[in-house]
Amino acid sequence: MMEMIWEYTYMYFHPLILICCCSLIVYCYILIVCYRRRDALKIKIKTKQDQCRQSLEKFTKLPAPVNRVITRRSKKSEIIDLSLEKLLDKLKAGTYGAKDVLTEYLQKALEVNKEFKCVVEAIKEAEDLAMDCDKMRNSKEQHKRPLHGLPVSLKENYFLKDYDSTAGMSDYIGIPCKEDAVIVQVLKKQGAVPFVRTNIPQTMMTYECSNPIYGQTVNPHDGTKGPGGSSGGEACIIAAKGSLLGFGNDIGGSIRIPCHMCGVCGLKPTYGRLSAKGIFELMSGQTLINATTGPMARDVTSLVIAMEALLCDDMFVLDPTVPPIPFRMEIYEKTNELKIGYYIFDGYLKPVPACKRAVMDAKAILERQGHELVHFEVPDVKDIFTEIYLPIIFGDNAKTLWECLKNDNIDPTIWLAVRSWSLPKFVQWLMSWVVSYIYNDNIVGKGMRSTCKSKNVYDWWKLAERLQKYKKKFLSLWRSHKLDVLICPGFAFPAVPNGAVFNVLGGVTYTALYNLLDYPAGTVPITKVTREDEAGMKEYPTNTRYERFIKKYYSEDTVGLPVGVQCVGLPYQEELVLRVMKMLENENIHHHHD
Ligand SMILES: *[C@@H]1O[C@H](CO)[C@@H](O)[C@H](O)[C@H]1NC(C)=O
Repeated sequence: MMEMIWEYTYMYFHPLILICCCSLIVYCYILIVCYRRRDALKIKIKTKQDQCRQSLEKFTKLPAPVNRVITRRSKKSEIIDLSLEKLLDKLKAGTYGAKDVLTEYLQKALEVNKEFKCVVEAIKEAEDLAMDCDKMRNSKEQHKRPLHGLPVSLKENYFLKDYDSTAGMSDYIGIPCKEDAVIVQVLKKQGAVPFVRTNIPQTMMTYECSNPIYGQTVNPHDGTKGPGGSSGGEACIIAAKGSLLGFGNDIGGSIRIPCHMCGVCGLKPTYGRLSAKGIFELMSGQTLINATTGPMARDVTSLVIAMEALLCDDMFVLDPTVPPIPFRMEIYEKTNELKIGYYIFDGYLKPVPACKRAVMDAKAILERQGHELVHFEVPDVKDIFTEIYLPIIFGDNAKTLWECLKNDNIDPTIWLAVRSWSLPKFVQWLMSWVVSYIYNDNIVGKGMRSTCKSKNVYDWWKLAERLQKYKKKFLSLWRSHKLDVLICPGFAFPAVPNGAVFNVLGGVTYTALYNLLDYPAGTVPITKVTREDEAGMKEYPTNTRYERFIKKYYSEDTVGLPVGVQCVGLPYQEELVLRVMKMLENENIHHHHD
């Protein structure tokens, strides 16, 4: 008997069995914790989504405007169709009330949002702001407010008092901001009425406009394509006429890419020309290449009005790091002949025919206006991108990004990249060689290697030195041609099929160069993709994985997609950049009407 008991006991408590049992318990525990965390995450995201939906639903139930002029159907579209300049005139003259304009735009925004999913939530304080404007009607204060009654949309990462800025990451849900961004404060002081917040990609470090909280925004010209990003919600709502003026920010093309892809205008100023205080930036500790705030709108004049209104004493007081330079209208309005550089190919990915033609069209327009155009060989973009831009942007080996995302649902559009950051450096390094092979593009592998290498202060200084050297080289080349401005492709290709940005990420060199240099750059729509452009894709190379995807995506189903060009100036020459954008826009409008 005793023996039997002993045997059983031994069987049950055999060390191996013990270990197995313990492991099982630990495993179950981990599973339960994970499930609970996932449940908690699900609930957190769901609550946020409900809250946003309610904020929007509240406004769908708004009564129609009581103002007799606007209730008539014919007038209704008039408000939406008016240019920003004309609408401001009517608001200031009192033809329309701010409250009525707000109601029109809220309803239009909600209508386009149903189709394109560009709005994340409505700003409830807008109503009070609009009513304040109406109370001020014809008073002395009103005349001092250049944006009196103008509804304005804001990218989700602009801080708003009592609202979360999440950049699509659930870690940031439920952390309301304490104060409005400086730009928002100035906009309000100047009479504008921020009324909706717009969608972004998760982390904002890609140009696919999708995240697990607010979902995916699509392109208003073709719902199977994306709007670009990261200020994709802004470009989308402006192109769909749900807003007249919006604000985004740009560290690799986040204002210019969506403007190009949605067919609207946008300006990325020099860093510092507009305040960047109160903008949610994940990696704000990286200060060699800063994200820049800037306006986006249907036409260039709107950008000028916005810049002129923002560059005021209020901005210079609220953010004393902004140089107190008002908008220099005399530069914008000057009519002297300019020397303008242009290029089509930056040395990495060839632009598709439509993007090439856009630059050539722009060149022809400017030449017709009597300006001198010279070809500009843009130096070393390929190397600079992998050896300076990427190592700086991911200088912490994407640790900051990973810390924010590791407990989160990761959007499928960035899943692969994000997962690879969680791997040990050595594995990442090995992977970079595999990737080089798969992509048949040593740039991609080189980029990955440079971002998975640990950097110490010495390495960081070396990077900063190389950046300064490149800036110097670029400037002396610019000077040797005596350029006033430069025009170049808006991007390597038009709007990308939904969910496919990762396959063509390399296109970003066309815009990121001007973040690296910190030159002001604006995007203006020039043309649309034609059948001939598509047919021209036959000659597009297919050596690398990026090229093969570009060829696949742009050989069909792209006719009618908007295409823009970039206008670039020397630091603090925003007025000159806008002047050239205006020259292109003017001619282009006439050209199409003929
Ligand atoms: C980036 O921003 C920081 C903080 O405002 C500033 O100190 C730094 O000089 C900026 N870098 C560049 C290149 O402008």
